Amino acid sequence: MNLPFSEASEQNKAFIFDVIKPYLHGEVLEIGSGTGQHAVFFAGQVPQLHWQTSDLESNLPGIEDWIADSGSTSLLPPIALDVRADWPERQFDLVYTANCFHIMDKTAVAKCIEGAGACLKADGILLVYGPFNYAGNFTSPSNARFDAFLKARDPVSGIKDFEWLDDLANEANLQSVDDVAMPENNRILVWQKRTL
Ligand SMILES: C[S@@+](CC[C@H](N)C(=O)[O-])C[C@H]1O[C@@H](n2cnc3c(N)ncnc32)[C@H](O)[C@@H]1O
Repeated sequence: MNLPFSEASEQNKAFIFDVIKPYLHGEVLEIGSGTGQHAVFFAGQVPQLHWQTSDLESNLPGIEDWIADSGSTSLLPPIALDVRADWPERQFDLVYTANCFHIMDKTAVAKCIEGAGACLKADGILLVYGPFNYAGNFTSPSNARFDAFLKARDPVSGIKDFEWLDDLANEANLQSVDDVAMPENNRILVWQKRTL
């Protein structure tokens, strides 16, 4: 099978797994699954998961191929989910998204956090992997170059500020519980849904 391939996903999946494994249980919704490589890897490590992949319609065939190739029974067929539109009615224990917030514009990111807050169960977790700024500053020269590259390609994309994301998360009833430094100046941001 000729599978779509992301070198970045291949490089970062084990590092991400080491951090997120304590959170991996129950029903997971992944936003922007891309090729599906993260889903296949994580579900392979924790087979009792129910991992719902999703992305824009155009990416679904590649994710379907990765899932078929994996033979995993814990990976659910991908659903079309544009974060700016309708979200699933189902509730999840975990919403996971990697390397999507710097691709999306600010409206889409805000919708993503709002949608995650709405579809998480009480105490559910939102995990976001990628590069982020703090107090309006890049954390490295390479992130500044990456942001310039992204904006040259799409002026509304780019690295987002942690503080702006955290304000949105608070509005969505999500509380910051961890922020983990990762290789290549990336982070894993962790929010937990407050119990009302
Ligand atoms: C850089 S890729 C990351 C893919 C994968 N998560 C990974 O880490 O390799 C960004 C992903 O965001 C998805 N995306 C962009 N805009 C989106 C939107 N409005 N709703 C849902 N997904 C979106 C793209 O289709 C793409 O799969």
